[in-house]
Amino acid sequence: MAITSKSIALTFIFLSYTVSCVSSQRETKFLNHGFLEANLLKFGSSKVHPSGLLELTNTSMRQTGQAFHGFPIPFTNPNSTNTISFSTSFVFAIITPGSGAPGHGLSFVIAPSMDFGQAFPSNYLGLFNTSNNGNSSNRILAIEFDTVQSVEMNDIDDNHVAIDLNGVISIDSAPAAYFDDKQAKNVSLRLASGDLIRVWIEYNATEMMLNVTLAPLEHPKPNFPLLSRKMNLSGILSQENFIGFASSTGTITSTHFVQGWSFSIEGRAAEIDITKLPSLPDSPPSPSPNPPVSLKKSSNNTKQIIIIAASATVVVTIVIILGFWIFRRRQTLITGGARKFSYKTISSATSGFSRSLGEGNTGRFFRGQLAPGETIAVKRITCSTRQQKLSLIARIDTISRIRHRNLTNLLGYSSQGNEVYLIYEYVSNGSLDRFLFSNDRPVLTWSERFNVVRGIATGLQYLHGECQRALIHGNVKSSNVLLDEELQARLGDYGQGNRQSNNTGHAAGELVETAAVQTSDVDVFAFGVLIMEIVCGRRVVEPSRPPGEISLVNWVLQGFRNGNELECCDVRINTNELVEREVLLVLKTGLLCINRSPQVRPVMRRVVQYLDGTASLPQDDNVFNGV
Ligand SMILES: *[C@@H]1O[C@H](CO)[C@@H](O)[C@H](O)[C@H]1NC(C)=O
Ligand SMILES: *[C@@H]1O[C@H](CO)[C@@H](O)[C@H](O)[C@H]1NC(C)=O
Ligand SMILES: *[C@@H]1O[C@H](CO)[C@@H](O)[C@H](O)[C@H]1NC(C)=O
Ligand SMILES: *[C@@H]1O[C@H](CO)[C@@H](O)[C@H](O)[C@H]1NC(C)=O
Ligand SMILES: *[C@@H]1O[C@H](CO)[C@@H](O)[C@H](O)[C@H]1NC(C)=O
Ligand SMILES: *[C@@H]1O[C@H](CO)[C@@H](O)[C@H](O)[C@H]1NC(C)=O
Ligand SMILES: *[C@@H]1O[C@H](CO)[C@@H](O)[C@H](O)[C@H]1NC(C)=O
Ligand SMILES: *[C@@H]1O[C@H](CO)[C@@H](O)[C@H](O)[C@H]1NC(C)=O
Repeated sequence: MAITSKSIALTFIFLSYTVSCVSSQRETKFLNHGFLEANLLKFGSSKVHPSGLLELTNTSMRQTGQAFHGFPIPFTNPNSTNTISFSTSFVFAIITPGSGAPGHGLSFVIAPSMDFGQAFPSNYLGLFNTSNNGNSSNRILAIEFDTVQSVEMNDIDDNHVAIDLNGVISIDSAPAAYFDDKQAKNVSLRLASGDLIRVWIEYNATEMMLNVTLAPLEHPKPNFPLLSRKMNLSGILSQENFIGFASSTGTITSTHFVQGWSFSIEGRAAEIDITKLPSLPDSPPSPSPNPPVSLKKSSNNTKQIIIIAASATVVVTIVIILGFWIFRRRQTLITGGARKFSYKTISSATSGFSRSLGEGNTGRFFRGQLAPGETIAVKRITCSTRQQKLSLIARIDTISRIRHRNLTNLLGYSSQGNEVYLIYEYVSNGSLDRFLFSNDRPVLTWSERFNVVRGIATGLQYLHGECQRALIHGNVKSSNVLLDEELQARLGDYGQGNRQSNNTGHAAGELVETAAVQTSDVDVFAFGVLIMEIVCGRRVVEPSRPPGEISLVNWVLQGFRNGNELECCDVRINTNELVEREVLLVLKTGLLCINRSPQVRPVMRRVVQYLDGTASLPQDDNVFNGV
């Protein structure tokens, strides 16, 4: 079956090339409802579905996908040196599995070449890499629809639209929103809601104005653009350019789709007819694909019609065959919330549990390889009673729905005998404690540490409030924080009803004394200790030190009282890069979190606000002394 559909698809690709070659060599305007008949070149992970839907990435990790209009577009007026005006409109959707965080975004690109083979995924959006990012010889203009806040790239938030020139550090950006003409106000919009969003990008070379406007699909074009920026693109853009789309995923992922696209040099791009767009995979498939719309008048109409009719027949056949095939696959794959792996798969992926990654809270972690490039971490939990096993499996469904960029995501589970295996994505850089307390890892810089602190806070905030059911982590400590390849913090080992067996000084006093029911307050306390460890590069209790320095908390308090907090910092951090304001912010937040009185400890949402600077710490210095 696979071979048949492949060969049909190849025939079809050949046919669609013929169609576009017949229609024009120097197109300056086009309109595509779906991309079946479009003259589109696809790179990386991008593909066109049988319905005509363009998929730039699926939800696999660290992908990049680009798709370009097959012919270069002349961007100069032969009679002058100025870049000419252009206008484009397209419809996209970003779909994220579960209720998790989306990643990383989609952009419209104008570039002198289609060669993005060396571009990086994640926050480089499949457009740039570390060596060419920001280089003016790129001559690339991109409008990004970014769903991750990359601190490194100075992103304003995790849901913004921005203008990028030659790099992913934007020259202008705004939180995604549209102007509602009736209500005369801005209405914000979630880029990754899964809903269809229509975009208009217009550049007038006379005014030298670039406008970016977006709105929900059914909404008419708003009167005011979201971004409007004066830019002289002559001398920046090349004389001939390729236009298209790029997307990427990182360790958090989304499927990025484009449904339709129109473009025009000089004059307005044709309006997209929303009734002709292909439907998204989850909605019922449309009965037949829509015929292509060619704006160019061709003398060769009959020939085109014959070819189009022929390819339409092929398309219908493919849709039916693939639809049937997908339907059958769906039936076998989707059985419940969490994906269940067979014990055999897990055992062979981990080579019989031979590569240990270390001991977790209630079980040991092993490294495994599901497929080439798909590394996993498997946690083996031995249950002592049948009841324990059943309640753990019951919890897996909840855990698997938790998805956040600062948490290690559960991919599935497996069980055999009295053992349960939790399968997580593998986080490449290992645990934070090795970075902090041993010398076999690079020393984290101040900005990396500050970023890790914020990452952990955001992950905990999500566990405590934003996921469907509030969860207490119960064991926040440096060995439970993993760092990914971009040194972003990923909090692990949550949601299994961890017993508090914490005698490392991370547990709040009232818990030790009364063995009280766990509350989120316990996590706040442990978080406070952890972030002080991150700043100071030492453990909370170090018995080998002189008496006054054994307790980290006392040490920080002394520094705080004597006004030399900076001296508490890990001596391995280069002092030139320390940002005093941030160091103070983290240490004071830490002290507040470990206040002896639980009522004074902030909730994680508040902590995130302190760290982001959207709320200020209490004025009264005494609250930091109450430990
Ligand atoms: C994404 O696409 C690649 C290549 O087509 C495929 O190997 C992978 O299984 C897909 N991933 C998902 C989650 O569908
Ligand atoms: C360029 O100038 C020539 C002569 O003045 C004119 O015929 C032609 O239409 C112009 N081309 C464009 C694209 O404006
Ligand atoms: C970045 O991409 C350019 C080409 O666009 C390539 O020459 C260069 O080697 C790449 N750098 C890295 C670090 O991959
Ligand atoms: C920018 O790229 C050009 C060509 O790839 C290279 O020669 C130049 O050194 C780069 N400039 C910087 C600042 O990296
Ligand atoms: C709407 O948002 C735009 C862009 O952020 C801003 O310039 C404009 O003032 C806002 N308009 C209103 C009515 O809030
Ligand atoms: C851009 O938006 C501004 C403000 O609404 C408008 O005056 C201007 O004509 C627009 N330009 C283009 C090229 O759409
Ligand atoms: C725009 O840039 C081009 C090329 O750098 C330059 O020749 C032109 O004078 C600029 N136009 C304006 C109005 O600044
Ligand atoms: C660009 O702006 C000028 C001046 O406002 C206007 O005359 C012209 O029609 C605009 N061009 C396009 C393509 O919108």
